[in-house]
Amino acid sequence: MHFLSILFPLSYISFALASITVYSQQPLGATASASASAANYTGAAAYDPLLLQAPAVPNPAPNTNFALQVQSSSSNVQGLSIPQSGSFMGFSIEMSVATQVSDSFLQVPFLNLMAALKDRAGRTHVRVGGNTQDYAYIVDSIPNGLVIQKDKALSTNPTDTPTLMWTPELIYMLANVTALTNTKWYLGIPFNDSSNWRLQIAEIGDSVLGDNLLGLQAANEPDLYADHGHRPATYSPYDYYGEFGNLVQALANDNSVSNKNNLIAPNLASGDWTPEMVWDTGFINTYTSNLGALAVEHYPTDNCFAVYGSGTPRDPQTEFPNYLNHTSGYSIVQPYINSSQVALAAGKPFLMMETNTASCGGFPGISDSFGASLWALDYGLTMAYYNFSGALLHVGGQNVYYNPFTPPPTNESTFHQWTVGSTFYSALVIAEVFGSSNNSRIVDMGANDNNIYTPSYAIYENDAPSKVALFNYITDPSGATAYTANIQIAGGQVPSSVKVKYLLAASVSDKANITWAGQTFGDVLSSDGRLQGTEDVQTVNCDQTNNQCSIRVPAPGFALVFLSDSAYSDSAPSATQTFSTTAVTKTMNTATIAASVLATSNGHSGANRALGSTSKGSSGAVVGVRVPGAVALLAMVLGSLVVGRALVR
Ligand SMILES: *[C@@H]1O[C@H](CO)[C@@H](O)[C@H](O)[C@H]1NC(C)=O
Ligand SMILES: *[C@@H]1O[C@H](CO)[C@@H](O)[C@H](O)[C@H]1NC(C)=O
Ligand SMILES: *[C@@H]1O[C@H](CO)[C@@H](O)[C@H](O)[C@H]1NC(C)=O
Ligand SMILES: *[C@@H]1O[C@H](CO)[C@@H](O)[C@H](O)[C@H]1NC(C)=O
Ligand SMILES: *[C@@H]1O[C@H](CO)[C@@H](O)[C@H](O)[C@H]1NC(C)=O
Ligand SMILES: *[C@@H]1O[C@H](CO)[C@@H](O)[C@H](O)[C@H]1NC(C)=O
Ligand SMILES: *[C@@H]1O[C@H](CO)[C@@H](O)[C@H](O)[C@H]1NC(C)=O
Ligand SMILES: *[C@@H]1O[C@H](CO)[C@@H](O)[C@H](O)[C@H]1NC(C)=O
Ligand SMILES: *[C@@H]1O[C@H](CO)[C@@H](O)[C@H](O)[C@H]1NC(C)=O
Repeated sequence: MHFLSILFPLSYISFALASITVYSQQPLGATASASASAANYTGAAAYDPLLLQAPAVPNPAPNTNFALQVQSSSSNVQGLSIPQSGSFMGFSIEMSVATQVSDSFLQVPFLNLMAALKDRAGRTHVRVGGNTQDYAYIVDSIPNGLVIQKDKALSTNPTDTPTLMWTPELIYMLANVTALTNTKWYLGIPFNDSSNWRLQIAEIGDSVLGDNLLGLQAANEPDLYADHGHRPATYSPYDYYGEFGNLVQALANDNSVSNKNNLIAPNLASGDWTPEMVWDTGFINTYTSNLGALAVEHYPTDNCFAVYGSGTPRDPQTEFPNYLNHTSGYSIVQPYINSSQVALAAGKPFLMMETNTASCGGFPGISDSFGASLWALDYGLTMAYYNFSGALLHVGGQNVYYNPFTPPPTNESTFHQWTVGSTFYSALVIAEVFGSSNNSRIVDMGANDNNIYTPSYAIYENDAPSKVALFNYITDPSGATAYTANIQIAGGQVPSSVKVKYLLAASVSDKANITWAGQTFGDVLSSDGRLQGTEDVQTVNCDQTNNQCSIRVPAPGFALVFLSDSAYSDSAPSATQTFSTTAVTKTMNTATIAASVLATSNGHSGANRALGSTSKGSSGAVVGVRVPGAVALLAMVLGSLVVGRALVR
């Protein structure tokens, strides 16, 4: 039947890199940390131990003591965003990877990660798609119980984008995940042939997922279609406009699709088209009743030279400072500000459907560092401030650096656990920044004279200030660059005390010891998707006489200050839902849940859920434990992979 592991494209980039040694290079202990051999590391990117140097303390250093004024009423605040929800930051998972399933199991670590977000925000958003969605086609079944598989034989295009076959079980699997974790999905309609539409994903998605299907992407990066040889060189926004119209017509004629108004377009990459070129065709007016959202996709830079040996070589150590200040998020968002206003005026949400630190897999030492946690968090809040309605961090395979989460190499899944990347913390913190009210509005405070290393935001809910978010991008072990923000409430009175949660690591280059309110997902290959450790929430007494709460922010660090009890409880993971893996034997770290349990699930009783364990027994494997069918996936896909430039994002 199905598994979640399906969703993780283990291998497409590994082939591009010819890293056939992916598995054998893994550190075998559960702790892989920096070692002398980091410089010559040849294993999978997702576990690369490279630690960069944190940039030096800037000169001049920022002020380390400054006032920060929030307003007692949001009506006195200029430029406050539209209301945002805690599910603002989700994930984009490439559709391309086949899996193998001989039984029906879902990956418990993935369920735990999604549940961690749901506990804070009420729900979480995941896109299954990417370049491969355009050539996907449905089949009733695939041998060996696969629910999705690449098919290079049918590849008809010069960039080697593989075709992909999938079965309806894929969508049932997503429904099972939803039942347990309230995950909502974005899917994509194949767009390779606009005269013979394959609408099954819309039909089955609609009937199986219902309202849990958030929207259907209509084209993925159409501005790159000509470059990739998927359309003639003359392909223009007007051609796209016409094809989109054909799709609208085909959907109108399809009685198996009841929801015909949740299309997401145009999902432009940063190719030759600006979003305005699409808007200027009259696109939004013409199709307004079919459009659920307008969207773009973007990476601030690329690391393609490292992958292909062509393009611009970029040195991670040199690039690192570009991620460690408040300018980065703004410079990414700036070209879209007009479009976000256009979308708002048209009554459509504006989404960042796919993003991450750098395309072509990200950078070693950057994409998986604490610096990237701060970067993605700041960038996410900047998007929210500029009225995006959501953003999805892309998840690749073992051979990318930027994954928010990575399952262990297939044949090591019995003794290794998952790797939770530094940007997962960003999504987790954003879930708390906006909480579960759907009513959080955010403003960039331009704090500390707009110092780029110490940005801050204020969040208002129901007219009142509810939270303050404070960043410190600088690494300074001496402690001298820690700062104190003195929060004041103009037109009101600070409470007697506030609660503060910190996102911390010793350095922006750290990877393993990132904590949120004292808890961590741990080092590489060691997470079951649950936060470990005791939650540590600070209570800071305020000075009501001087109407001031003084909050210290370490260098580096991030603090989320809760200005009221309701702000705190609105985001607090009150009923923590976890899917325990301790019920399975010690050697079976990657627990799975039997779909037979899920078939009758109503989604409410996750905490007590019975765990299914797959058959154990001895085999020739290193640990003497048979790799469960449930997780012995992906490896078998390697032989049928076709990899091209178009795939590596
Ligand atoms: C996993 O598979 C790879 C590739 O087949 C192999 O080189 C490696 O030794 C295997 N690892 C274990 C622990 O069996
Ligand atoms: C990396 O490999 C080179 C060449 O084999 C060697 O000279 C160097 O000492 C190695 N570096 C580390 C850190 O192991
Ligand atoms: C579109 O993709 C389908 C499925 O992969 C394939 O059969 C078909 O030939 C493709 N059509 C075009 C025009 O590329
Ligand atoms: C914003 O986009 C609209 C629609 O494309 C365009 O007409 C307008 O000129 C743009 N405004 C700016 C300031 O770019
Ligand atoms: C801050 O980030 C921007 C955008 O990434 C970069 O261009 C700039 O050089 C960085 N500034 C410093 C001082 O590192
Ligand atoms: C975001 O939307 C709000 C509400 O319409 C508006 O007041 C604000 O100016 C917008 N922000 C930007 C940066 O366009
Ligand atoms: C927030 O919005 C979602 C999606 O519309 C909805 O399901 C949920 O009930 C809302 N939560 C609250 C507290 O209104
Ligand atoms: C993580 O922090 C703990 C406790 O401070 C320390 O013992 C451990 O060595 C650190 N691990 C790494 C990889 O830095
Ligand atoms: C879970 O998957 C099974 C098998 O495909 C399916 O029969 C069942 O309806 C799904 N459960 C939910 C809650 O969607």
